Amino acid sequence: MNSYDAYFRYNDGELTCEGLPLREAAERFGTPLYVYTERGFRERYMEIDRALDGVPHLICYSIKSNSNVNILRIMADMGSGMDVVSGGEIRRALAAGVDPRKIVFAGVGKTDEEISGAIDEKILMFNCESFEEMERIDEISRAKGTVSDISIRVNPDVDANTHHYIRTGRKENKFGIDIDRLKERGDFIRGLSGLRLIGIHCHIGSQIVELPPFTAALTRLLTLIGGLKRDGFSDIAYINLGGGMGIRYRDEEFFPIEDWAREVRGRVSAAGLKLIVEPGRYISGNNGVLLVRLLYKKRTGDRLFLITDGGMNDLIRPSLYSAYQNILNCVRREGSEVADVVGPICESGDFFGKEREITTSLPGDCLGVMSSGAYGMAMASRYNSRRLPAEVLIGVDGSPRLIRRRETYEDMIAHELVP
Ligand SMILES: Cc1ncc(COP(=O)(O)O)c(C=O)c1O
Repeated sequence: MNSYDAYFRYNDGELTCEGLPLREAAERFGTPLYVYTERGFRERYMEIDRALDGVPHLICYSIKSNSNVNILRIMADMGSGMDVVSGGEIRRALAAGVDPRKIVFAGVGKTDEEISGAIDEKILMFNCESFEEMERIDEISRAKGTVSDISIRVNPDVDANTHHYIRTGRKENKFGIDIDRLKERGDFIRGLSGLRLIGIHCHIGSQIVELPPFTAALTRLLTLIGGLKRDGFSDIAYINLGGGMGIRYRDEEFFPIEDWAREVRGRVSAAGLKLIVEPGRYISGNNGVLLVRLLYKKRTGDRLFLITDGGMNDLIRPSLYSAYQNILNCVRREGSEVADVVGPICESGDFFGKEREITTSLPGDCLGVMSSGAYGMAMASRYNSRRLPAEVLIGVDGSPRLIRRRETYEDMIAHELVP
């Protein structure tokens, strides 16, 4: 059992969360079902907050990792800000009661509508990803007779040594602005009277389990900020290091958050800056499980397939990134078997795990795909006309609460216009 799924553990042979057998949750709410632990979300947030004690900071939970409004409410209650990448995420943050002055807005393709809406909501700042975007925000701001605060997302060109789909800090990635080009375009930025440059931002990738890429990015950003200040950009008050801290899915040796914070605290304080961080997966990843039911055990040649009622539409990480997630039977049985755990979708890439040794299971058993709290439900789709799954939050008192009902077939086709 993965010790980092701390709130999911076996009790008397039953996989539980806060004392509640997950088998019972599956029976009550049906499957596929996401189950989250409120305590886990709170703990992870507090861990980062405590580690950054002593340096002025704002934690902006990255909504994209798990965006259920009830999760966002917990984060808002802890004092968290939000990292958003769309008008929809701004809506979610506001619906959860987040202070707009704690919202930072990134993304390479902000539309006029999104920019205008964010200005009207008076968010803390835009994280700009191109000169073209700065021009657009400048125009819209001036048309509204206002000045918008921005950070510039730079591409520090460090290799985060993670899956190439979630590596974002290299020159060949579409994100951010090349540091050297930024230095050359100081006059251009100064000429945009509808903007005020108040920060520098980076996000070098996700699921990073080594410290050196973070330290390298920090060094580059601090040097850049020093230079920009000397060039007259005296309003720069924020350094935003993005998210990306890795978690344990299997046996990854990732750095303790305290080590990361120690690197950051002193240097950011010495520069007289306020720190923003945007953790997503670190907060949500280990705090959710996807429960699926075993439908059939099918043998083909020498392979055993455990066919479940959950598929890649419910949880795409294994298919998309070949991501490893632990799979456990909610009821501990004698013996084990090696099997591919797959879904019902008409794609060979529809699997949760391949050649896994897992506890012997019987049709009807409920399986838990562990560490599904991040980029699970948030990336779910209706592919194969499957209804989006339900979500349950287990409160600190151990009681389960439905926080998203399972879609009905009517919901599924509701937006299709039949002539
Ligand atoms: C700008 C930005 N900040 C934060 C995050 C969150 O990353 P993670 O979930 O790895 O912490 C992302 C993820 O893509 C991002 O693009």
